[in-house]
Amino acid sequence: MQLCVALDLPSAKENLALAESLKEHDIWMKVGFRSYIRDGREFIDTLKAINPDFNIFLDLKLYDIPNTMADAAEEIARMGVDMFNIHASAGAKAMQTVMARLEKFDKRPLVLAVTALTSFDEEGFRAIYEKGIDEKAEQFAKMSYANGLDGVVCSAYESRAIKNATSENFLTLCPGIRPFGEDAGDQQRVATLEVAAEELVDFPVVGRPIYKDPDPAAKVAKILEVIKSL
Ligand code: C5P
Repeated sequence: MQLCVALDLPSAKENLALAESLKEHDIWMKVGFRSYIRDGREFIDTLKAINPDFNIFLDLKLYDIPNTMADAAEEIARMGVDMFNIHASAGAKAMQTVMARLEKFDKRPLVLAVTALTSFDEEGFRAIYEKGIDEKAEQFAKMSYANGLDGVVCSAYESRAIKNATSENFLTLCPGIRPFGEDAGDQQRVATLEVAAEELVDFPVVGRPIYKDPDPAAKVAKILEVIKSL
């Protein structure tokens, strides 16, 4: 498992201070919508300057017509970002167009698909997709695998089924991880590191349990120690 830390603090200054405190560690950094819209490309460059070996996951969940998505994917690849995501519901053609556009890069970023947003309840999801969340998430995962994506964003509890339906090498990135059973906050279904390992999660995403800890660096060290032992 590779730890992915969500940089969800309210300002660039606080996010960069957090990154600075974690610079000794071999970890992924998740840069989300808010932070990217506010702090932009410069923020990514500053993160890389803090530690060139930080792996950056740009969590922008692209969704548009295939050519526009591929244009965005190309720009993301040029930024030197290591992973980004798209919405699976953009469709097979969008996936193919994005992956084809990235072929020219010697080292392209990993591309993940969002299956079902975890904010949906069953009824709200059916109103749009006309199928249940589990069924549709698995269908989206199969479509993403068939069209050359590297993995999906899903709940830790869907990770194993998705790998069974695709490949053990198909990556799963899972938010809602509470490493040592910390407060769930607004997450509906949370998993500890042990559960994440059992469910074959590749990238556990952790936000609040790290940045709300009085000593985030010590917390990350502890998490990495446990991951190593699993
Ligand atoms: O603080 P916490 O560990 O709950 O942070 C989880 C991170 O993962 C947040 O950045 C949240 O926006 C993101 N996320 C999520 N559920 C999804 C997709 C992303 O919690 N389905």
